[in-house]
Amino acid sequence: MSEPLDPTALDLAAFPASFTWGTATSAYQIEGAVAEDGRAPSIWDTFAHTPGAIDNGDHGDTACDHYHRWPEDIALMKELGTDTYRFSVAWPRVVPAGDGPVNTAGLDFYDRLVDALLDAGITPSVTLYHWDLPQALQDRGGWTVRDTAEHLAAYASAVGERLGDRVTHWATLNEPLCSAWIGHLEGRMAPGLTDLTAAVRASYHLLLGHGLATAALRAAAPGARIGLVTNHSTITPVSTRPEDVAAARRADGHTNRWWLDPVYGRGFPTDMRELYGVELPEKAGDMATIAAPLDWHGLNYYFPVTVADDPTGPVPHTSEVRLPDVPRTGMDWQIDAGGLEAFLLRLTEDYGVRRLYVTENGSAFPDTPGPDGEVHDPDRARYLEQHLAACARALRKGAPLAGYYAWSLLDNFEWAYGYDKRFGLVHVDYATQRRTVKTSGRRYADIIRTHRTHTA
Ligand code: FCB
Repeated sequence: MSEPLDPTALDLAAFPASFTWGTATSAYQIEGAVAEDGRAPSIWDTFAHTPGAIDNGDHGDTACDHYHRWPEDIALMKELGTDTYRFSVAWPRVVPAGDGPVNTAGLDFYDRLVDALLDAGITPSVTLYHWDLPQALQDRGGWTVRDTAEHLAAYASAVGERLGDRVTHWATLNEPLCSAWIGHLEGRMAPGLTDLTAAVRASYHLLLGHGLATAALRAAAPGARIGLVTNHSTITPVSTRPEDVAAARRADGHTNRWWLDPVYGRGFPTDMRELYGVELPEKAGDMATIAAPLDWHGLNYYFPVTVADDPTGPVPHTSEVRLPDVPRTGMDWQIDAGGLEAFLLRLTEDYGVRRLYVTENGSAFPDTPGPDGEVHDPDRARYLEQHLAACARALRKGAPLAGYYAWSLLDNFEWAYGYDKRFGLVHVDYATQRRTVKTSGRRYADIIRTHRTHTA
């Protein structure tokens, strides 16, 4: 059971009364129903069914069966007392071929979901692209070709036209870094390539797609509040050696500046362009499209990174140093809430972001139901509290943080790690699809309730 909450320990008074508390998920990780109502395969269906790509041979064919169990999942959100829910729309449900005809049955699913959320008093926050590119577009070059950015915008219009009368909170992309770097350079995510040229081109077209989709959404859904969701880590050199300090600068360019500088009007960082040595497929006007003004920025933060110089290693010629004797999650990710505070302040002070959300933050631990049927996960509850305390510190220092989304509502398909890594505030027994709110979920509910009481 959770201990009684001490509101001062978390400094809940730092969170404004209007602060929104949410949970987040993404389509391929929870929906299942991969062949229903006209959905076509995405690159993740293909990748997940590639032998050896995913731990245990797992895939998202059924996942949490959310496509059928969404009423129960909305009831869980109500039980947690959250104000808002961040989910993604599956492009291959809505435009199965990637471009061309819109599949009304696919949109109907999200239409029902949005109505039910609103009926439950929960504000929908829609992400258009959380990595599930229609396979048909991948077959024509995927993110390495410019057309894909244009198709993203057409798909954004279709979703905006259908849901824009009820949804105001929109994100174009989730974590383009993972799509480009992990999907095209490291090969650990779909489409599983290891090609620097493809990766740099993909990064460019993803950001161009973000800009084009922003314009398309503004036209289709006047009143839309549009943001971009990027993931970041604070980067520290392992030593004060000049080589390691320079390595940290490169790692920061690769992980952080490459994604933020162009979106905030600074263009792609010159040092990184030189390092990659790949010509950008730039056309006149693109940089202004990519830097379209946004209504908010979403930060996904999980862990900090320590690096060393590694001249013979892959781009950006740095290697991650695994620090001994530091707390870690079940992903082996270092736990350091200070990195969240620091990045919220960097977005505020360095990039001038005027409205911020933590769109993802959370931890995996190997939890299982106890003999009493309860799932006790004190480590996840502690991670949550430490990171909310970091949000409070950032708020006190002036970060315009408007909301927090815990990753994740449910245990789900954790990409290349399959179902072994559990991030949920709610446990899922995949054999029975039974959901059980974990101790951390109760803790989150307590925090939300306490914040409301204190700011009422
Ligand atoms: C982020 C992803 C999300 C989830 C968490 C753990 O990189 O956006 O889908 O997998 O990590």
